Amino acid sequence: MTNQSNRSHRIALIPGDGIGHEVVPAAMQVVEAAARKFGFTIQTEELPWGCEFYARTGAMMPKDGIDRLRGFDSILLGACGYPGVPDHVSLWGLLIPIRREFMLYANVRPIKLFPGVPCPLVGRKPGDIDFVVVRENVEGEYSQVGGRIYEGTPDEVAIQQAVFTRKGTDRILKYAFDLAKTRRNKVTSATKSNGIIHSMPFWDERFAEMAKAYPGVETNQFHIDILTAHFVQHPDWFDVVVASNLFGDILSDLGPAIAGSIGIAPSGNLNPEGEHPSMFEPVHGSAPDIAGKGVANPIATIWSAAMMLRHLGEAEAADAIEAAMAVTLADADSRTRDLGGKADTKIATEAVLAAL
Ligand code: NAD
Ligand code: IPM
Ligand code: MN
Repeated sequence: MTNQSNRSHRIALIPGDGIGHEVVPAAMQVVEAAARKFGFTIQTEELPWGCEFYARTGAMMPKDGIDRLRGFDSILLGACGYPGVPDHVSLWGLLIPIRREFMLYANVRPIKLFPGVPCPLVGRKPGDIDFVVVRENVEGEYSQVGGRIYEGTPDEVAIQQAVFTRKGTDRILKYAFDLAKTRRNKVTSATKSNGIIHSMPFWDERFAEMAKAYPGVETNQFHIDILTAHFVQHPDWFDVVVASNLFGDILSDLGPAIAGSIGIAPSGNLNPEGEHPSMFEPVHGSAPDIAGKGVANPIATIWSAAMMLRHLGEAEAADAIEAAMAVTLADADSRTRDLGGKADTKIATEAVLAAL
């Protein structure tokens, strides 16, 4: 792992598919400008993996792909998945193996309403929406355990097992509580222990157990159904929201939607122990409907890159990029259309660079 004493950072770039090819170069312009301004160096290698690579080779990444990523300090990924390759094939061929092989068990997804950004919730102002979804990222409902039999017949059966381990549950809960201690000391657990009778009561028990070790942290829990309603009606209740893999996935698209757009939502896929490179990526996907048009909002990837720099020990650069983003978002001329603005990808990126 790199830190302030080693200020040269090796970053693997995987633009992936669709708008990944637009937002990753935009974010890298910002990272390179920050490197010049704050006096660190960045070495990058671009890896052309994704659905086009699949069309040429029959795989989303080379066989030694994971090993090639091992030597980097961090990974910046755009998105993967594109029409023509089934989504479960593309995602289980690239994104999900990286998360699992590098034990990136904490998926950290901040959600914030920025000044000037039109909020779809009436009467909400910046400060009312400022929370983080901490999503379990390597087990839970996303599992390879299961199968199909009698395919294509009336007797067809599909079985999909969820996997909740004590180790995997406790470490994500611990991550959430530790994060809350650096914020407003509040953790909300997303559960569904009324309907899902094995894994979710177990999740609740582990949450209650972990809470005992954090007497200064306020806790509460909601079933996932009403929790989605509270996101809309009471977003100010939340500080850190901890959730299983699938619940966290859903909440982390809803969260940015109430704060303006999925186009600003960043994420860090973290290996908190630092044994493997962590990966940073926007929460959104490859957006085939707008790909190639130059209109994608680059902020989600720029913010993800700022999270990456913070993780690499470049807090000053990360702060400066986040401040430059806020300036960009405040002005309709530099906001992209998904946020009711007029800018395209290039104009929004140039605005971040100018503010930096
Ligand atoms: P999506 O996030 O790609 O798009 C959903 C909607 O949001 C679209 O209308 C899109 O135009 C819009 N949008 C997304 N990002 C935007 C941005 N930066 N600026 C402006 N508008 C933006 O989700 P989807 O349509 O469900 O998925 C498309 C593909 O991406 C699928 O193959 C899916 O599996 C994949 N996907 C990948 C990731 C990932 O790699 N992390 C995440 C989600 C979806
Ligand atoms: C995300 C995405 C992925 C996920 C998909 C594309 C597999 O939606 O990162 O939120 O569900 O983890
Ligand atoms: Mn998602």
